[in-house]
Amino acid sequence: PAGAPDKALAKKVTKVGVIGAGLMASQFALLFVRRLKVPVIITDLDQARVDKGLDYIRGEIATLLSKKRISPDESNRLNHLISGTTDKADFADADWVIEAVFEELGVKQDVFADIEQYISETAVLATNTSSLSVEAISAKLAHPERVVGFHFFNPVAVMPLVEVVNTPLTDEATLSTAMVTAAALRKNAVITRDTPGFVVNRILAKLLGEAMHAVDTGTPFDVVNTALDPFGLPMSSFELLELVGLKVGAHVLDTHHAAFPDRFFESENLHKLAEHGKIFERDAKGRIKGFDKTAVKIV
Ligand code: 3HC
Repeated sequence: PAGAPDKALAKKVTKVGVIGAGLMASQFALLFVRRLKVPVIITDLDQARVDKGLDYIRGEIATLLSKKRISPDESNRLNHLISGTTDKADFADADWVIEAVFEELGVKQDVFADIEQYISETAVLATNTSSLSVEAISAKLAHPERVVGFHFFNPVAVMPLVEVVNTPLTDEATLSTAMVTAAALRKNAVITRDTPGFVVNRILAKLLGEAMHAVDTGTPFDVVNTALDPFGLPMSSFELLELVGLKVGAHVLDTHHAAFPDRFFESENLHKLAEHGKIFERDAKGRIKGFDKTAVKIV
């Protein structure tokens, strides 16, 4: 990767466009509006998805207000700055556009190729992909030099890191804008190479993949959890899989297995669990009560 890019080359971000209104996108849309204090517009396939994302963001703003983390004035300002649309023409004046749509190369390529028709030639296009090649995501673009990976971790408000993924085509102004933006979001940014899983997910896929493989080969969930306890991780591998999303987790594992078949296992059970939707049974407040009975039978 390049060394630190020249900060003087960073472009000013005056409006953020977010493509995707799922949990990850909604979480970082809130972070952008809170830290950059510029208009943030989110879009998705239909109005219902956009509304769901907006509801989440407005709910989080209300929580920040009730915890007295923000003033009533700031709450009003944030609610005013955040908006949703299904009309991509509203992205025309966005100078930072970031996507967190479904983790499928073709989908992300098409989303970027489509949005490129609406935005200025100099707007940065960032992707929050977990493990796909950022260069491949930029393959259908007229201006791939403005593409950069910008990989957040869940929960976005709490996890301090952003991986800034530098492709061989990314220009220095784009890289610089990404680093300056990460600093404005008060995240620690590292510049990584455009390799499967970058740095963090490569390691995480190993941990979660091996934990899943132990279950696949007959070790019960609770034995794996208890065995890993002494590592002192903030949550168990299976909780983390639920947190990142079982479908995303399965996808990340598949990507790693495809890239390094001798180093990563595929897990059919993880796909089955992703279809089922959960590993744990939880109470109304989301606290874990135990392993979900159907999940245990699936594996
Ligand atoms: N959204 C927003 N805020 C959250 C949150 C969420 N989902 N979950 C927890 N928080 C906040 C809480 O509100 C609390 O904030 P406060 O102090 O301001 O009230 C703070 O985080 C601490 O939460 P708790 O005290 O309830 O709980 P813990 O101390 O147990 O911490 C945790 C929770 C931070 C989630 C911790 O368990 C943890 O660090 N887990 C590991 C998370 C991790 O590894 N994430 C990376 C996943 S990989 C990824 O995302 C990449 C992708 O590409 C796959």
